[in-house]
Amino acid sequence: MQYDVKDLALTAEGKRRIEWADNDMPVLREIRKRFEKEKPLAGKKMAACLHITAETANLARTLKAGGADLVLCASNPLSTQDDVSAALVEAYGIGVFAIKGEDNKTYYEHIHACLKHDPVITMDDGADLVSVLHKEYPEKCKQIFASMEETTTGVIRLRAMHNDKALKLPVFAVNDATTKHLFDNRYGTGQSTVDGIIRATDILLAGKTIVIAGYGWCGRGVATRMKGQGANVIITEVDPIKALEAAMDGFRVMPMAEAAPIADLFITLTGNTSVLRKEHFEAMKDGAMVANSGHFNVEIDIPALEKLSVKTTKGVRQFVDEYKLANGRRIFLLGEGRLINLAAAEGHPASVMDMSFATQALVTEYALKQKLEPGVYNVPKDVEDYISALKLKTMGVEIDELTPEQIEYLSSWEVGT
Ligand SMILES: NC(=O)c1ccc[n+]([C@@H]2O[C@H](COP(=O)([O-])OP(=O)(O)OC[C@H]3O[C@@H](n4cnc5c(N)ncnc54)[C@H](O)[C@@H]3O)[C@@H](O)[C@H]2O)c1
Repeated sequence: MQYDVKDLALTAEGKRRIEWADNDMPVLREIRKRFEKEKPLAGKKMAACLHITAETANLARTLKAGGADLVLCASNPLSTQDDVSAALVEAYGIGVFAIKGEDNKTYYEHIHACLKHDPVITMDDGADLVSVLHKEYPEKCKQIFASMEETTTGVIRLRAMHNDKALKLPVFAVNDATTKHLFDNRYGTGQSTVDGIIRATDILLAGKTIVIAGYGWCGRGVATRMKGQGANVIITEVDPIKALEAAMDGFRVMPMAEAAPIADLFITLTGNTSVLRKEHFEAMKDGAMVANSGHFNVEIDIPALEKLSVKTTKGVRQFVDEYKLANGRRIFLLGEGRLINLAAAEGHPASVMDMSFATQALVTEYALKQKLEPGVYNVPKDVEDYISALKLKTMGVEIDELTPEQIEYLSSWEVGT
């Protein structure tokens, strides 16, 4: 088996963490039990480019239990948990190519290593694997039943490829499933981003003025949790409906230029580029902190920050770099501008990844039974219903059922006032 991980001696700790996460992933466990018996993925080669966390390890175990011959690489150079990759290799026999802090060259070498495995199913978190596949191995696209995409930014990239008629394989927009974005992006990113900021800085959030850029699924999650911590939250947006929603949820909404001089901490979650840039850095207070939890490290214009700085001190604390500007003020960049919840903390809690990864596993099984044209597809509704019902059951929550009278009422148009 081929692999490239930091240190196999970390296996025991990684295995403990994977098993701990598994305790909180009952839906995926149920799927794994069935996969073990039925082997729906028997002999199928798979490559997955995901954040290598304890939760991802449980997805990988599930796919392997279903018979898949799987390899993994990281979807971000800073999100790998080295103990987890060691355990995946040594304890679970799954080839992993990922090392936390790997440089860009190694990051892409690892993606190539996964594509050389000749997958017939791929998974992505940000579309880097599919993008390299199209650019450098276009002939391999034909053999792929489908690819799964885990995050908003990846789905946007893939839809852009499809619109340009460049997409050569079918892709399932797993991010767009309600069992994914409604829970993972909101509650997962909400909690883990706060966790990442606290672990990186150890600051008290109560009383701080915190700007959240982007009031989408992730932004809403983080804003609500920061408010719960006692922070004064300001939202910046470009979409009038989202901005209105933020205002009616009780947040101050203003342009970034107005927020820049008054905030203590800025967090970007937009999926867009240069949301924090030169004119904003120049207006910030001494000691302002900037962090990103959107997919790529382009939301904070780091080259502009570097250009403005007269002195840079890396690692004033783990995951904190200090930039001293010509005006004498200091700006602290957290987690090198990469997803702070994965760079400084452990990513989303297992319970929420249970749903996202159950969706991934079931869509993989579904895709292998289809013959699909290239395009971006939604997750089938019965997969979503199955996962929600099973999750509720594992939470001990019961709900009502429609009565025959209600079913009839909801399907008729004749009954009025
Ligand atoms: N950190 C994580 O673990 C994690 C998890 C899920 C998604 N993500 C990533 O987070 C990002 C946001 O995802 P989402 O699901 O919330 O997307 P979304 O589309 O629901 O929300 C993004 C919001 O940002 C706004 N926006 C765009 N440009 C802006 C700008 N210049 N200033 C202010 N607001 C702007 C949009 O109007 C939109 O409301 C994506 O990159 C996604 O891939 C990260």
